[in-house]
Amino acid sequence: MISVTTVSKPDIQFHYDLSTLFYRLLWGRHIHHGLWKADEAPDVAQLNLTDTLAELAGIQPGDRVIDVGCGMGGSSIRLAKQFGAEVMGITLSPVQRLWASVAARLDGVSQHTTFKRLDAEVAQFQPESVDVVWSIECTEHLFDKAAFFHRAAKWLRPGGRMAICAWLAGPRATEPGGAEQVRKVCEGFLCPSLGNAQDYVEWMNSAGLEVEPVQDWTPQVAETWSICRRRVEQTRVRWLARLIDRQTTRFLDDFSTILEAYRSGAMSYGCFIGRRP
Ligand SMILES: C[S@@+](CC[C@H](N)C(=O)[O-])C[C@H]1O[C@@H](n2cnc3c(N)ncnc32)[C@H](O)[C@@H]1O
Repeated sequence: MISVTTVSKPDIQFHYDLSTLFYRLLWGRHIHHGLWKADEAPDVAQLNLTDTLAELAGIQPGDRVIDVGCGMGGSSIRLAKQFGAEVMGITLSPVQRLWASVAARLDGVSQHTTFKRLDAEVAQFQPESVDVVWSIECTEHLFDKAAFFHRAAKWLRPGGRMAICAWLAGPRATEPGGAEQVRKVCEGFLCPSLGNAQDYVEWMNSAGLEVEPVQDWTPQVAETWSICRRRVEQTRVRWLARLIDRQTTRFLDDFSTILEAYRSGAMSYGCFIGRRP
């Protein structure tokens, strides 16, 4: 695992309160990578990622899902609408909570979704009350990832699944320059640390989950950042960000950093499915 000491939780909340609009303008309602199977449009690639994870997690109609770090509600709404799930989304950002609630109402799934402003590192749910704990690109922001997995695994009923997509420290993260690239990404994108694939497997195993073979999606997701970089260059979004704050400007400028980290192998992107026996 590669860590930095410069990230604080209030900064993460502040970032998502402010930057949600930028994510929406630049990328869409899902704040996660696209997964390309061919040459799909970016919005289709975003849905590919959500739907592939849902299929791997075996989400069935009526499943109770907790969407940890739910952003603008992209996954929660998709899981309710397309897969018939009952979803509670939690996010650190009050702005996102409101955004997700309104989006779910506009999408006609407010009966099947609930959104709460809740810190995943202190959230408590009834033991064995959930079919699926779902989290796309949120665990990167957690300070004690092992403790989160330990707690969240208890929410699952026997046979329940944990479905995680995460940015990872890649196979070359420990080579000269690699750790530096990962630290730069952590600072630019407010991640206190990035674990590697083995760390995730160990955290999930120690939490009592049986983990399926890890899926490395790096080559299928990396295109995300070329597209975002192009969109920043072609629009006035950087100018708008400058009016807001330095961190938001830095975040837009760091799109190249993450792309380079994928290319060098300092970072990778993984999908993990764990099952509670
Ligand atoms: C990259 S976004 C992903 C959003 C969403 N999963 C999606 O795919 O559209 C990261 C999300 O994690 C949330 N987050 C970060 N730290 C959190 C915490 N400690 N508790 C709950 N949510 C958190 C942010 O508020 C944000 O919604």
